[in-house]
Amino acid sequence: MSEELQGSRALVTGAGHGIGRAVALGLAAAGADVVVHYGKSADAAARTVADIEALGRKAIAVCADVTSTADVNRLLDETVGFLGGLDILVCNAGHLIGRVKVEEMSDEHFQQVVDVNLGATFRTTRAAIGHLAQSVNPRIITMASLAAHNGGGPGSVVYAAAKAGIRGFTKGLAKELGSQGITVNAVAPGYIAETAFHQTFSTEQAQAAMVAGTPIGRAGSVEDVANAVKFLALPASGYLTGITIDIDGGTWPR
Ligand SMILES: NC(=O)c1ccc[n+]([C@@H]2O[C@H](COP(=O)([O-])OP(=O)(O)OC[C@H]3O[C@@H](n4cnc5c(N)ncnc54)[C@H](O)[C@@H]3O)[C@@H](O)[C@H]2O)c1
Repeated sequence: MSEELQGSRALVTGAGHGIGRAVALGLAAAGADVVVHYGKSADAAARTVADIEALGRKAIAVCADVTSTADVNRLLDETVGFLGGLDILVCNAGHLIGRVKVEEMSDEHFQQVVDVNLGATFRTTRAAIGHLAQSVNPRIITMASLAAHNGGGPGSVVYAAAKAGIRGFTKGLAKELGSQGITVNAVAPGYIAETAFHQTFSTEQAQAAMVAGTPIGRAGSVEDVANAVKFLALPASGYLTGITIDIDGGTWPR
């Protein structure tokens, strides 16, 4: 087992299942102790915790609504209380909520989509910065999307805009925090098949079309995303900041 992140302390939001779970396990396999944040599924989070512990690392599950500032601030308090500090923050939690055309979208729906993606990234990083500033190898990694480049699939205009906002937020925050040695980077997954996201929101036909539009010729895996996140978290990646890594098999057009 690799030990490149030995002794690191990580918080991964939305780590009960899907991409977040793979990211949490990937960081743990590299030596990190991990706080497994979840929104609703305590059982899934408990499974991630057990799998991390089986790797010989410390883990705990913490529930928080990432659209609530009070919840997110408590999440960071509990994280630092458990880990004794924070080195790596992965803002993975996010949601499409539903496929709705702009002309049919309510103000409330618009606000929810922005809040659970861009808003959650903002309030989680805000609560984490003071802790990360005390780390010798501080990392913030955000979750953008191919949608930020290409506008997304049907009914996901506002989701695409929120993810594009995360790209801009990441670039700007990298400048703001560079002098403190905190790197801020994003990953932008394309079609990652094995999560609730597309199983809930995309037809089989649409999923086949996404594979057909991928030069590598397959859907992405959650491990493809986890590997890129781990790379950005490594001490050796300390001169990379403000970038977005596309994990989309070369999907065109961007
Ligand atoms: N699957 C893909 O193809 C794909 C592509 C690009 C980007 N993404 C992004 O990757 C991230 C993970 O998605 P996934 O595919 O693993 O799907 P997922 O639905 O399994 O994961 C989303 C996670 O966000 C959490 N979450 C959502 N709303 C929350 C809230 N209000 N409070 C707390 N937690 C909340 C959920 O609990 C869940 O763990 C998301 O940000 C998504 O937008 C996914």
